[in-house]
Amino acid sequence: MSDNELIEVKFLKSPKGKFLVGHLPEFNTYNKHQVLERWVEACGDLFKIHFVGKEFVVSANPDLNNKMLRLRPESFKRFSKIDEILKEMGVDGVFNAEGTSWKRHRKPIAEALSVKNVKAFYPIILDKTKIILEKFKDYAERKTVVDVQKEFMAFTIDVTTEIAFGHKLDTINNKSNDFQKHLEVIFPMINERVTAPIPIWRYFKRKKDKTLDNSLKSIQQVIHGFIDDAKNRMLQNPELKDQPSNFLEALLVENKDANFTDEEIYGNVFTMLLAGEDTTSNSLSWIVFYLAQNPGIVTQVREEANTVYPEGLPDVYEHVEALKYAHAVSLEAMRLKPTTPQLYLEANDDVVVDHVVIPKGTNIILQNKVAQTDESYFSNGDTFMPERWLEGKCPMDKNHAPNVMRAFGGGARYCPGMHLAKTEMIVLVSVLCKYFDFKLEVKPEDIRERFEFTMYPENLKITLEPITLNKEVIA
Ligand code: HEM
Repeated sequence: MSDNELIEVKFLKSPKGKFLVGHLPEFNTYNKHQVLERWVEACGDLFKIHFVGKEFVVSANPDLNNKMLRLRPESFKRFSKIDEILKEMGVDGVFNAEGTSWKRHRKPIAEALSVKNVKAFYPIILDKTKIILEKFKDYAERKTVVDVQKEFMAFTIDVTTEIAFGHKLDTINNKSNDFQKHLEVIFPMINERVTAPIPIWRYFKRKKDKTLDNSLKSIQQVIHGFIDDAKNRMLQNPELKDQPSNFLEALLVENKDANFTDEEIYGNVFTMLLAGEDTTSNSLSWIVFYLAQNPGIVTQVREEANTVYPEGLPDVYEHVEALKYAHAVSLEAMRLKPTTPQLYLEANDDVVVDHVVIPKGTNIILQNKVAQTDESYFSNGDTFMPERWLEGKCPMDKNHAPNVMRAFGGGARYCPGMHLAKTEMIVLVSVLCKYFDFKLEVKPEDIRERFEFTMYPENLKITLEPITLNKEVIA
Protein backbone atom coordinates (compact mmCIF):
# COMPACT_ATOMS: atom_id res chain seq x y z
CA MET A 1 0.00 0.00 0.00
CA SER A 2 1.39 3.45 -0.91
CA ASP A 3 1.82 6.05 1.83
CA ASN A 4 -1.08 8.10 0.51
CA GLU A 5 -3.54 5.30 -0.04
CA LEU A 6 -6.70 5.62 2.03
CA ILE A 7 -7.59 2.83 4.47
CA GLU A 8 -11.30 2.10 4.82
CA VAL A 9 -12.79 0.56 7.94
CA LYS A 10 -14.76 -2.00 5.93
CA PHE A 11 -11.52 -3.49 4.58
CA LEU A 12 -9.78 -3.78 7.95
CA LYS A 13 -8.93 -7.29 9.03
CA SER A 14 -10.48 -8.98 12.02
CA PRO A 15 -9.51 -11.73 14.46
CA LYS A 16 -11.37 -15.00 13.94
CA GLY A 17 -14.88 -14.66 15.40
CA LYS A 18 -18.05 -16.75 15.75
CA PHE A 19 -20.99 -16.76 13.34
CA LEU A 20 -23.53 -14.00 14.18
CA VAL A 21 -22.24 -13.21 17.71
CA GLY A 22 -18.80 -12.30 16.32
CA HIS A 23 -16.16 -11.63 18.97
CA LEU A 24 -18.53 -11.32 21.91
CA PRO A 25 -17.99 -14.80 23.45
CA GLU A 26 -14.22 -14.32 23.66
CA PHE A 27 -14.61 -10.75 24.94
CA ASN A 28 -17.17 -11.69 27.55
CA THR A 29 -14.58 -12.22 30.25
CA TYR A 30 -13.49 -10.11 33.21
CA ASN A 31 -10.08 -9.35 31.68
CA LYS A 32 -11.23 -7.76 28.43
CA HIS A 33 -8.04 -5.72 28.12
CA GLN A 34 -5.91 -8.87 27.77
CA VAL A 35 -8.16 -10.23 25.03
CA LEU A 36 -7.61 -6.96 23.16
CA GLU A 37 -3.86 -7.25 23.68
CA ARG A 38 -3.85 -10.77 22.21
CA TRP A 39 -5.78 -9.53 19.20
CA VAL A 40 -3.26 -6.71 18.71
CA GLU A 41 -0.49 -9.33 18.72
CA ALA A 42 -2.42 -11.38 16.16
CA CYS A 43 -3.83 -8.68 13.85
CA GLY A 44 -1.45 -5.72 14.15
CA ASP A 45 -2.17 -2.19 15.28
CA LEU A 46 -5.42 -1.55 13.35
CA PHE A 47 -8.31 -3.99 13.02
CA LYS A 48 -11.99 -4.35 13.71
CA ILE A 49 -14.16 -6.60 15.86
CA HIS A 50 -17.91 -6.97 16.21
CA PHE A 51 -20.33 -7.96 18.95
CA VAL A 52 -23.55 -9.33 17.48
CA GLY A 53 -23.18 -7.02 14.47
CA LYS A 54 -22.06 -3.90 16.40
CA GLU A 55 -18.68 -2.94 15.02
CA PHE A 56 -15.65 -1.53 16.86
CA VAL A 57 -12.35 -0.43 15.36
CA VAL A 58 -9.32 -1.17 17.54
CA SER A 59 -6.23 1.01 17.13
CA ALA A 60 -2.96 0.32 18.91
CA ASN A 61 -1.06 2.73 16.69
CA PRO A 62 0.29 5.55 18.90
CA ASP A 63 0.51 8.14 16.10
CA LEU A 64 -3.07 7.51 15.04
CA ASN A 65 -4.25 7.42 18.65
CA ASN A 66 -2.52 10.69 19.52
CA LYS A 67 -4.08 12.37 16.50
CA MET A 68 -7.56 11.13 17.39
CA LEU A 69 -7.15 12.25 21.00
CA ARG A 70 -6.12 15.69 19.78
CA LEU A 71 -9.16 15.95 17.51
CA ARG A 72 -11.46 16.24 20.52
CA PRO A 73 -13.96 17.60 21.22
CA GLU A 74 -14.71 18.49 17.58
CA SER A 75 -14.24 15.21 15.67
CA PHE A 76 -14.39 12.61 18.47
CA LYS A 77 -16.25 12.14 21.74
CA ARG A 78 -16.25 9.41 24.38
CA PHE A 79 -18.55 6.43 23.70
CA SER A 80 -22.05 7.93 23.94
CA LYS A 81 -23.05 5.11 26.28
CA ILE A 82 -20.83 6.55 29.03
CA ASP A 83 -22.75 9.84 28.97
CA GLU A 84 -26.08 8.01 28.72
CA ILE A 85 -25.38 5.91 31.83
CA LEU A 86 -23.89 8.72 33.91
CA LYS A 87 -26.70 11.17 33.04
CA GLU A 88 -29.26 8.51 33.94
CA MET A 89 -27.59 8.41 37.37
CA GLY A 90 -27.85 12.20 37.61
CA VAL A 91 -24.13 12.80 36.89
CA ASP A 92 -23.48 15.74 34.57
CA GLY A 93 -19.78 16.54 34.81
CA VAL A 94 -16.64 17.14 32.76
CA PHE A 95 -15.94 13.44 32.10
CA ASN A 96 -19.21 12.82 30.27
CA ALA A 97 -19.82 16.31 28.83
CA GLU A 98 -19.21 16.76 25.11
CA GLY A 99 -18.72 19.56 22.56
CA THR A 100 -19.30 23.12 23.79
CA SER A 101 -20.75 21.81 27.06
CA TRP A 102 -17.42 20.03 27.70
CA LYS A 103 -15.51 23.28 27.05
CA ARG A 104 -17.69 25.04 29.61
CA HIS A 105 -16.97 22.33 32.19
CA ARG A 106 -13.31 21.79 31.49
CA LYS A 107 -11.88 25.27 32.18
CA PRO A 108 -13.06 25.66 35.80
CA ILE A 109 -12.25 22.01 36.57
CA ALA A 110 -8.72 22.33 35.21
CA GLU A 111 -8.27 25.58 37.20
CA ALA A 112 -9.63 23.99 40.38
CA LEU A 113 -7.07 21.16 39.99
CA SER A 114 -4.17 23.44 38.92
CA VAL A 115 -0.69 23.09 40.42
CA LYS A 116 -1.40 26.22 42.50
CA ASN A 117 -4.45 24.60 44.08
CA VAL A 118 -2.78 21.19 44.49
CA LYS A 119 -0.11 23.04 46.50
CA ALA A 120 -2.87 24.54 48.66
CA PHE A 121 -4.37 21.04 49.18
CA TYR A 122 -0.97 19.55 50.02
CA PRO A 123 -1.42 19.55 53.85
CA ILE A 124 -4.30 17.08 53.36
CA ILE A 125 -2.06 14.68 51.39
CA LEU A 126 0.66 15.02 54.00
CA ASP A 127 -1.76 14.36 56.85
CA LYS A 128 -3.07 11.14 55.23
CA THR A 129 0.52 10.07 54.47
CA LYS A 130 1.34 10.39 58.19
CA ILE A 131 -1.68 8.26 59.08
CA ILE A 132 -0.85 5.46 56.63
CA LEU A 133 2.83 5.57 57.64
CA GLU A 134 1.87 4.97 61.27
CA LYS A 135 -0.34 2.08 60.20
CA PHE A 136 2.44 0.56 58.07
CA LYS A 137 4.91 0.91 60.97
CA ASP A 138 2.52 -1.14 63.05
CA TYR A 139 2.23 -3.71 60.26
CA ALA A 140 6.04 -3.88 60.04
CA GLU A 141 6.37 -4.41 63.76
CA ARG A 142 3.79 -7.18 63.78
CA LYS A 143 5.11 -8.67 60.51
CA THR A 144 1.57 -8.46 59.11
CA VAL A 145 1.03 -9.44 55.49
CA VAL A 146 -0.28 -6.28 53.82
CA ASP A 147 -3.03 -6.28 51.20
CA VAL A 148 -1.54 -3.35 49.29
CA GLN A 149 -4.53 -2.70 47.05
CA LYS A 150 -6.91 -2.37 50.00
CA GLU A 151 -4.58 -0.06 51.94
CA PHE A 152 -3.92 2.29 49.03
CA MET A 153 -7.60 2.38 48.16
CA ALA A 154 -8.31 3.56 51.73
CA PHE A 155 -5.55 6.19 51.37
CA THR A 156 -6.93 7.64 48.11
CA ILE A 157 -10.51 7.56 49.43
CA ASP A 158 -9.49 9.64 52.46
CA VAL A 159 -7.35 12.04 50.39
CA THR A 160 -9.91 12.47 47.60
CA THR A 161 -12.93 12.95 49.86
CA GLU A 162 -11.21 15.58 51.95
CA ILE A 163 -9.77 17.38 48.92
CA ALA A 164 -13.12 17.17 47.10
CA PHE A 165 -15.16 18.96 49.77
CA GLY A 166 -13.33 18.95 53.09
CA HIS A 167 -15.04 15.82 54.44
CA LYS A 168 -12.72 13.96 56.81
CA LEU A 169 -12.90 10.17 56.70
CA ASP A 170 -10.60 7.65 58.35
CA THR A 171 -10.94 4.70 56.02
CA ILE A 172 -7.20 4.07 56.49
CA ASN A 173 -7.90 3.06 60.09
CA ASN A 174 -10.91 0.98 59.03
CA LYS A 175 -13.43 3.49 60.41
CA SER A 176 -16.58 2.55 58.58
CA ASN A 177 -18.58 5.36 56.96
CA ASP A 178 -21.88 5.38 55.10
CA PHE A 179 -20.62 7.79 52.47
CA GLN A 180 -17.96 5.37 51.24
CA LYS A 181 -20.34 2.41 51.50
CA HIS A 182 -22.72 4.13 49.08
CA LEU A 183 -19.88 4.91 46.65
CA GLU A 184 -18.89 1.25 46.77
CA VAL A 185 -22.38 0.42 45.58
CA ILE A 186 -22.35 3.05 42.81
CA PHE A 187 -18.92 2.67 41.16
CA PRO A 188 -19.17 -1.02 40.17
CA MET A 189 -22.70 -0.43 38.88
CA ILE A 190 -21.43 2.27 36.51
CA ASN A 191 -18.97 -0.28 35.10
CA GLU A 192 -21.66 -2.96 34.89
CA ARG A 193 -24.13 -0.71 33.08
CA VAL A 194 -21.60 0.76 30.64
CA THR A 195 -20.61 -2.77 29.56
CA ALA A 196 -24.13 -4.32 29.72
CA PRO A 197 -25.37 -5.49 26.27
CA ILE A 198 -29.04 -4.90 27.27
CA PRO A 199 -30.22 -2.15 29.71
CA ILE A 200 -32.38 -4.52 31.77
CA TRP A 201 -32.79 -1.98 34.60
CA ARG A 202 -34.88 0.26 32.31
CA TYR A 203 -37.53 -2.45 32.01
CA PHE A 204 -37.24 -4.17 35.36
CA LYS A 205 -35.60 -2.99 38.59
CA ARG A 206 -33.63 -5.78 40.21
CA LYS A 207 -32.65 -5.66 43.89
CA LYS A 208 -29.25 -4.20 43.01
CA ASP A 209 -30.88 -1.47 40.89
CA LYS A 210 -33.03 -0.44 43.85
CA THR A 211 -29.97 -0.46 46.13
CA LEU A 212 -28.20 1.73 43.57
CA ASP A 213 -31.09 4.23 43.49
CA ASN A 214 -31.02 4.41 47.26
CA SER A 215 -27.23 4.98 47.35
CA LEU A 216 -27.42 7.63 44.63
CA LYS A 217 -30.10 9.47 46.57
CA SER A 218 -28.04 9.43 49.77
CA ILE A 219 -24.85 10.60 48.04
CA GLN A 220 -26.75 13.40 46.30
CA GLN A 221 -28.16 14.62 49.61
CA VAL A 222 -24.76 14.60 51.29
CA ILE A 223 -22.92 16.36 48.44
CA HIS A 224 -25.66 18.98 48.03
CA GLY A 225 -25.32 19.64 51.77
CA PHE A 226 -21.58 20.22 51.25
CA ILE A 227 -22.29 22.57 48.35
CA ASP A 228 -24.62 24.70 50.52
CA ASP A 229 -22.09 24.71 53.37
CA ALA A 230 -19.25 25.76 51.05
CA LYS A 231 -21.32 28.60 49.57
CA ASN A 232 -22.12 29.92 53.05
CA ARG A 233 -18.51 29.56 54.20
CA MET A 234 -17.28 31.53 51.22
CA LEU A 235 -19.82 34.29 51.82
CA GLN A 236 -18.67 34.60 55.41
CA ASN A 237 -14.92 34.28 54.65
CA PRO A 238 -14.18 36.12 51.37
CA GLU A 239 -10.44 35.41 51.84
CA LEU A 240 -11.18 31.77 50.87
CA LYS A 241 -11.47 33.06 47.30
CA ASP A 242 -7.69 33.56 47.19
CA GLN A 243 -6.88 30.36 49.04
CA PRO A 244 -9.59 27.73 48.61
CA SER A 245 -9.06 24.85 51.01
CA ASN A 246 -10.67 22.18 48.83
CA PHE A 247 -11.78 21.39 45.27
CA LEU A 248 -15.39 22.42 45.85
CA GLU A 249 -14.37 25.87 47.11
CA ALA A 250 -11.91 26.21 44.20
CA LEU A 251 -14.68 25.26 41.78
CA LEU A 252 -17.02 27.87 43.24
CA VAL A 253 -14.26 30.48 42.77
CA GLU A 254 -13.71 29.42 39.15
CA ASN A 255 -17.44 29.25 38.44
CA LYS A 256 -17.86 32.90 37.41
CA ASP A 257 -18.08 32.33 33.65
CA ALA A 258 -19.43 28.79 33.52
CA ASN A 259 -22.21 29.57 35.97
CA PHE A 260 -22.78 25.93 36.89
CA THR A 261 -26.07 24.88 38.40
CA ASP A 262 -25.87 23.02 41.72
CA GLU A 263 -26.58 19.80 39.77
CA GLU A 264 -23.52 20.43 37.59
CA ILE A 265 -21.38 21.21 40.63
CA TYR A 266 -22.63 17.95 42.14
CA GLY A 267 -21.79 16.15 38.86
CA ASN A 268 -18.24 17.44 38.93
CA VAL A 269 -17.60 16.68 42.59
CA PHE A 270 -18.95 13.17 42.02
CA THR A 271 -16.73 12.87 38.91
CA MET A 272 -13.71 13.78 40.97
CA LEU A 273 -14.45 10.93 43.40
CA LEU A 274 -15.08 8.53 40.52
CA ALA A 275 -12.00 9.53 38.51
CA GLY A 276 -9.56 10.12 41.35
CA GLU A 277 -9.78 7.12 43.68
CA ASP A 278 -9.20 3.78 41.90
CA THR A 279 -6.89 5.24 39.25
CA THR A 280 -4.45 6.59 41.83
CA SER A 281 -4.61 3.67 44.27
CA ASN A 282 -4.17 1.13 41.45
CA SER A 283 -1.14 3.00 40.12
CA LEU A 284 0.33 3.07 43.63
CA SER A 285 -0.17 -0.68 43.92
CA TRP A 286 1.61 -1.30 40.62
CA ILE A 287 4.50 0.88 41.82
CA VAL A 288 4.88 -1.31 44.92
CA PHE A 289 4.60 -4.43 42.73
CA TYR A 290 7.80 -3.30 40.96
CA LEU A 291 9.56 -1.88 44.02
CA ALA A 292 9.14 -5.14 45.92
CA GLN A 293 11.03 -6.88 43.12
CA ASN A 294 13.75 -4.22 42.79
CA PRO A 295 15.44 -3.52 46.15
CA GLY A 296 18.20 -1.49 44.44
CA ILE A 297 15.59 0.96 43.19
CA VAL A 298 14.03 1.19 46.67
CA THR A 299 17.48 2.18 47.98
CA GLN A 300 17.77 4.92 45.36
CA VAL A 301 14.32 6.33 46.23
CA ARG A 302 15.39 6.25 49.90
CA GLU A 303 18.67 8.03 49.19
CA GLU A 304 16.79 10.75 47.35
CA ALA A 305 14.31 11.07 50.25
CA ASN A 306 17.16 11.33 52.78
CA THR A 307 18.77 14.09 50.73
CA VAL A 308 15.62 16.12 50.02
CA TYR A 309 14.04 15.84 53.49
CA PRO A 310 16.62 14.30 55.85
CA GLU A 311 14.17 14.31 58.74
CA GLY A 312 10.55 13.28 58.99
CA LEU A 313 8.34 13.79 55.97
CA PRO A 314 8.34 15.99 52.85
CA ASP A 315 6.66 18.84 54.76
CA VAL A 316 6.46 21.38 51.96
CA TYR A 317 5.44 21.12 48.31
CA GLU A 318 8.95 22.16 47.21
CA HIS A 319 10.17 18.81 48.57
CA VAL A 320 7.78 17.02 46.23
CA GLU A 321 9.09 19.00 43.27
CA ALA A 322 12.62 17.88 44.14
CA LEU A 323 11.74 14.16 44.30
CA LYS A 324 12.66 13.48 40.67
CA TYR A 325 13.53 9.83 41.10
CA ALA A 326 10.28 9.00 42.94
CA HIS A 327 8.48 10.73 40.05
CA ALA A 328 10.42 8.62 37.53
CA VAL A 329 9.48 5.46 39.46
CA SER A 330 5.78 6.41 39.23
CA LEU A 331 5.97 7.11 35.50
CA GLU A 332 7.78 3.86 34.82
CA ALA A 333 5.15 1.80 36.67
CA MET A 334 2.41 3.60 34.71
CA ARG A 335 4.21 2.88 31.43
CA LEU A 336 4.29 -0.85 32.13
CA LYS A 337 0.95 -1.08 33.93
CA PRO A 338 -1.36 1.77 32.93
CA THR A 339 -4.54 1.56 34.99
CA THR A 340 -6.51 2.69 31.94
CA PRO A 341 -4.98 0.51 29.22
CA GLN A 342 -7.54 1.61 26.65
CA LEU A 343 -9.74 4.63 25.91
CA TYR A 344 -13.05 4.66 24.03
CA LEU A 345 -13.92 7.17 21.30
CA GLU A 346 -16.76 7.71 18.86
CA ALA A 347 -16.52 9.76 15.63
CA ASN A 348 -18.79 12.85 15.60
CA ASP A 349 -18.51 13.18 11.81
CA ASP A 350 -16.89 11.52 8.81
CA VAL A 351 -13.20 12.15 9.30
CA VAL A 352 -9.89 11.03 7.77
CA VAL A 353 -7.05 10.58 10.25
CA ASP A 354 -3.63 9.44 9.03
CA HIS A 355 -5.17 8.00 5.83
CA VAL A 356 -7.77 6.07 7.81
CA VAL A 357 -11.31 6.92 6.67
CA ILE A 358 -13.49 6.95 9.77
CA PRO A 359 -17.24 7.26 9.16
CA LYS A 360 -19.47 9.22 11.58
CA GLY A 361 -20.60 7.07 14.51
CA THR A 362 -17.62 4.66 14.33
CA ASN A 363 -16.71 3.34 17.77
CA ILE A 364 -12.97 3.15 18.28
CA ILE A 365 -11.09 1.45 21.10
CA LEU A 366 -7.69 3.09 21.56
CA GLN A 367 -5.43 0.36 22.85
CA ASN A 368 -2.55 2.38 24.32
CA LYS A 369 -0.78 -0.20 26.48
CA VAL A 370 0.88 -2.41 23.84
CA ALA A 371 2.95 0.44 22.36
CA GLN A 372 4.17 1.43 25.84
CA THR A 373 6.37 -1.68 25.97
CA ASP A 374 7.23 -1.83 22.27
CA GLU A 375 10.99 -1.82 21.59
CA SER A 376 10.61 0.71 18.79
CA TYR A 377 9.37 3.28 21.33
CA PHE A 378 11.06 2.19 24.56
CA SER A 379 14.34 0.26 24.55
CA ASN A 380 14.24 -2.74 26.92
CA GLY A 381 10.51 -2.08 26.91
CA ASP A 382 9.54 -4.85 29.32
CA THR A 383 12.12 -3.89 31.95
CA PHE A 384 11.35 -1.61 34.91
CA MET A 385 13.97 1.15 34.56
CA PRO A 386 12.90 4.48 36.13
CA GLU A 387 16.13 6.14 34.92
CA ARG A 388 14.69 6.36 31.44
CA TRP A 389 12.47 9.24 32.67
CA LEU A 390 15.29 11.29 34.22
CA GLU A 391 16.21 14.34 32.23
CA GLY A 392 19.68 14.04 30.74
CA LYS A 393 20.26 10.70 32.48
CA CYS A 394 18.28 8.35 30.28
CA PRO A 395 20.61 5.35 29.82
CA MET A 396 18.59 4.04 26.86
CA ASP A 397 20.88 4.86 23.99
CA LYS A 398 18.14 4.22 21.50
CA ASN A 399 14.46 4.57 22.05
CA HIS A 400 12.57 6.72 24.48
CA ALA A 401 9.27 8.14 23.22
CA PRO A 402 7.42 9.88 26.11
CA ASN A 403 4.69 10.92 23.71
CA VAL A 404 3.68 7.28 23.27
CA MET A 405 2.88 7.05 26.97
CA ARG A 406 -0.85 7.74 27.35
CA ALA A 407 -1.50 6.72 30.96
CA PHE A 408 -3.16 10.11 31.56
CA GLY A 409 -4.84 10.25 28.14
CA GLY A 410 -4.01 12.96 25.62
CA GLY A 411 -5.09 16.08 23.75
CA ALA A 412 -7.33 18.68 25.36
CA ARG A 413 -9.12 16.02 27.44
CA TYR A 414 -6.00 14.63 29.15
CA CYS A 415 -6.49 13.94 32.83
CA PRO A 416 -6.93 17.25 34.74
CA GLY A 417 -6.19 15.38 38.00
CA MET A 418 -2.67 14.50 36.84
CA HIS A 419 -0.83 16.95 39.17
CA LEU A 420 -2.86 15.82 42.13
CA ALA A 421 -2.37 12.13 41.31
CA LYS A 422 1.36 12.56 40.76
CA THR A 423 1.72 14.44 44.03
CA GLU A 424 -0.04 11.65 45.94
CA MET A 425 2.09 8.99 44.27
CA ILE A 426 5.45 10.76 44.62
CA VAL A 427 4.92 11.51 48.32
CA LEU A 428 3.69 8.08 49.30
CA VAL A 429 6.33 6.21 47.29
CA SER A 430 9.12 8.37 48.66
CA VAL A 431 7.94 8.08 52.27
CA LEU A 432 7.35 4.32 52.14
CA CYS A 433 10.78 3.68 50.61
CA LYS A 434 12.37 5.96 53.21
CA TYR A 435 10.99 3.89 56.07
CA PHE A 436 10.68 0.34 54.72
CA ASP A 437 12.02 -2.39 52.53
CA PHE A 438 9.32 -4.45 50.82
CA LYS A 439 9.13 -8.19 50.47
CA LEU A 440 6.69 -9.89 48.09
CA GLU A 441 4.69 -12.59 49.85
CA VAL A 442 3.33 -14.00 46.60
CA LYS A 443 5.24 -15.19 43.53
CA PRO A 444 5.22 -12.38 40.90
CA GLU A 445 3.57 -14.73 38.39
CA ASP A 446 0.66 -15.24 40.83
CA ILE A 447 -0.08 -11.52 40.88
CA ARG A 448 -2.48 -11.00 38.01
CA GLU A 449 -3.76 -7.98 36.12
CA ARG A 450 -7.44 -7.53 36.83
CA PHE A 451 -9.56 -5.10 34.86
CA GLU A 452 -12.73 -3.65 36.35
CA PHE A 453 -13.15 -0.18 34.88
CA THR A 454 -9.48 0.32 35.78
CA MET A 455 -6.65 -2.21 35.99
CA TYR A 456 -5.09 -3.32 39.29
CA PRO A 457 -2.79 -6.08 40.58
CA GLU A 458 -4.89 -8.86 42.05
CA ASN A 459 -3.34 -10.81 44.91
CA LEU A 460 -0.51 -8.36 45.67
CA LYS A 461 0.64 -9.13 49.21
CA ILE A 462 3.79 -7.81 50.86
CA THR A 463 5.50 -7.57 54.22
CA LEU A 464 7.44 -4.54 55.40
CA GLU A 465 10.91 -4.45 56.90
CA PRO A 466 11.56 -1.26 58.91
CA ILE A 467 14.66 0.76 58.08
CA THR A 468 16.74 1.82 61.04
CA LEU A 469 17.14 5.57 60.92
CA ASN A 470 19.74 7.64 62.67
CA LYS A 471 17.35 10.42 63.49
CA GLU A 472 13.93 10.55 65.06
CA VAL A 473 11.41 10.56 62.28
CA ILE A 474 7.98 11.95 62.84
CA ALA A 475 7.31 14.85 65.11
C1 HEM B 1 -2.80 7.88 38.58
C2 HEM B 1 -4.00 8.41 38.61
C3 HEM B 1 -4.83 8.75 37.41
C4 HEM B 1 -4.80 8.23 36.15
C5 HEM B 1 -3.89 7.12 35.63
C6 HEM B 1 -5.81 8.92 35.38
C7 HEM B 1 -6.07 8.67 34.04
C8 HEM B 1 -7.03 9.34 33.31
C9 HEM B 1 -7.30 9.09 31.92
C10 HEM B 1 -6.58 8.07 31.05
C11 HEM B 1 -8.29 9.93 31.55
C12 HEM B 1 -8.92 10.04 30.16
C13 HEM B 1 -8.19 11.12 29.43
C14 HEM B 1 -8.56 11.24 27.97
O1 HEM B 1 -9.70 10.99 27.60
O2 HEM B 1 -7.67 11.63 27.19
C15 HEM B 1 -8.66 10.73 32.70
C16 HEM B 1 -9.64 11.69 32.69
C17 HEM B 1 -10.02 12.39 33.79
N1 HEM B 1 -9.44 12.33 35.04
FE1 HEM B 1 -7.88 11.17 35.58
N2 HEM B 1 -6.44 9.82 36.18
C18 HEM B 1 -5.87 9.76 37.43
C19 HEM B 1 -6.22 10.52 38.53
C20 HEM B 1 -7.18 11.50 38.55
C21 HEM B 1 -7.51 12.32 39.69
C22 HEM B 1 -6.79 12.28 41.04
C23 HEM B 1 -8.54 13.13 39.30
C24 HEM B 1 -9.29 14.19 40.05
C25 HEM B 1 -9.18 14.48 41.21
C26 HEM B 1 -8.87 12.82 37.92
C27 HEM B 1 -9.85 13.43 37.20
C28 HEM B 1 -10.12 13.19 35.87
C29 HEM B 1 -11.18 13.86 35.12
C30 HEM B 1 -12.15 14.89 35.67
C31 HEM B 1 -11.12 13.36 33.80
C32 HEM B 1 -12.00 13.75 32.63
C33 HEM B 1 -11.34 14.86 31.82
C34 HEM B 1 -12.13 15.30 30.59
O3 HEM B 1 -12.94 14.55 30.08
O4 HEM B 1 -11.90 16.44 30.15
N3 HEM B 1 -8.01 11.83 37.50
N4 HEM B 1 -7.87 10.36 33.77
